[in-house]
Amino acid sequence: MQVLLESFISAWQALVSDEDRTTLIDALEAGKILYFYSLAFSFSDFEKKFLSPHWLDGSRKNISLQGDTVRGARGDESDLQQLATMMSRFAGQATQLVQTLFPQYGEQLRTARTSYRPARVTHRKASWRKDDSRLHVDAFPSRPSHGERILRVFTNVNPHGEARVWQAGESFADAAQHFLPRIRKPLPGSAALMAALGITKGKRSEYDHIMLHLHDEMKADSEYQRCAQQQRIEFPPGTTWVCFSDQVLHAALEGQYLLEHTVHVPVSAQQHPECSPLHMLENLIGRQLT
Ligand code: SIN
Ligand code: FE
Repeated sequence: MQVLLESFISAWQALVSDEDRTTLIDALEAGKILYFYSLAFSFSDFEKKFLSPHWLDGSRKNISLQGDTVRGARGDESDLQQLATMMSRFAGQATQLVQTLFPQYGEQLRTARTSYRPARVTHRKASWRKDDSRLHVDAFPSRPSHGERILRVFTNVNPHGEARVWQAGESFADAAQHFLPRIRKPLPGSAALMAALGITKGKRSEYDHIMLHLHDEMKADSEYQRCAQQQRIEFPPGTTWVCFSDQVLHAALEGQYLLEHTVHVPVSAQQHPECSPLHMLENLIGRQLT
């Protein structure tokens, strides 16, 4: 499968024909990465000072925007305010893009976090579970999704001409078939216990359990990482790409300076709900998972 669908759209709020919209949403929901090769995010002159990893406070790998405050960054109050302004402008433009391209999702989109990633992508061998240079699908351990989709907008803002390099893997259905036989059912009562202990926000569904194990089994399997079908993709600075990162097998190999914005989409809002990981897994397993 050709994993990229290239688009010439070069504005966050573009005029898009119905035909192009259909092509884009069909490709997105089929598990492709929509690649906008001339869609850039610009920093104002004074914001260019943020193109340094020194703004990270060392507590986490990315700077995130929650509400209108930044987390994981250091600097004086006015710097942090400017950083928040820059990130919320990105979040706004990413949201405009999603709303313009996929009006079908409409009011059902739920906005989530925005991150700025000024650190160089590294291969952190110490903790394989957190090593995003290994192929994986995104799943959040502490925030059960009950099937709700993770839609992400990424823009490479590297000022030195360096591409963000990704590896994209085989289709979700193929990967699920490969790993499902190894995934046991959750222990009875474990979801309620984790919620009661505050390990998870609300109860993990069986869907969440499977997605987390898929994430972990895939990352832990060195043979799979080496031998599974995959393709290298280079996203140069000044480009934007959009995908369902709970469906597209991906790994980040190289790069520095990335902006990312996440929105959630309920399966019921999809044009092709049968293409969601929830329905694909339910089909393979033969029972409801939420
Ligand atoms: C990831 O979502 O796994 C990493 C993407 C990136 O930082 O390029
Ligand atoms: Fe990821």
